[in-house]
Amino acid sequence: MFDIRHYIRDIKDFPKPGIIYKDITPLLQDPVATRKTVAAFLTFLKAEKIDKVVGIESRGFFFATLLAQELDAGFVPVRKPGKLPHTTFGESYALEYGHDTLEIHCDAIEKGEKVLLHDDVLATGGTAAAACKLIEKLGGEIVQCNFLMDLDFLKGKKKISAYNVVSLVSY
Ligand code: PRP
Ligand code: MG
Repeated sequence: MFDIRHYIRDIKDFPKPGIIYKDITPLLQDPVATRKTVAAFLTFLKAEKIDKVVGIESRGFFFATLLAQELDAGFVPVRKPGKLPHTTFGESYALEYGHDTLEIHCDAIEKGEKVLLHDDVLATGGTAAAACKLIEKLGGEIVQCNFLMDLDFLKGKKKISAYNVVSLVSY
């Protein structure tokens, strides 16, 4: 049976001491495992039509684009500040120390469009919650937020509990 955990490796003390980084590059390097991962996500989406898949910079981009293709939906990047060239809306969110901002193009989603949000990791949930606010600011309806993995002890699911959340594996 396909177990995505075999393709996610732990890197100790990256990017700083005390952090165990979940590295998905072994998954991305394996086309069969990548295809199986996309198929696993699709089983959670049922028949609902998705108009846009929103991927969060940067590690959310990989599977968000693959999912958009499979769903015959458009791909929309949510990016870190100053990266998107057209008019943007921004949303700030708290980090352990300080804050960060995410941006979306103001015309990326039309009112009433069905949206799937994707990112690789759900940790504290601050990133995903900010992306959800941006989608809703544009009038998008969030059908599901999906993640390759969630770090259960950081309680990110709580922060986005208003939405249908899917995570392929919990740590
Ligand atoms: C990581 C990860 C998620 C986010 C989760 O991204 O890829 O996007 O953190 O954290 P949170 O749930 O606590 O908000 P990061 O900001 O490190 O950037 P990257 O994807 O560009 O590596
Ligand atoms: Mg990220």
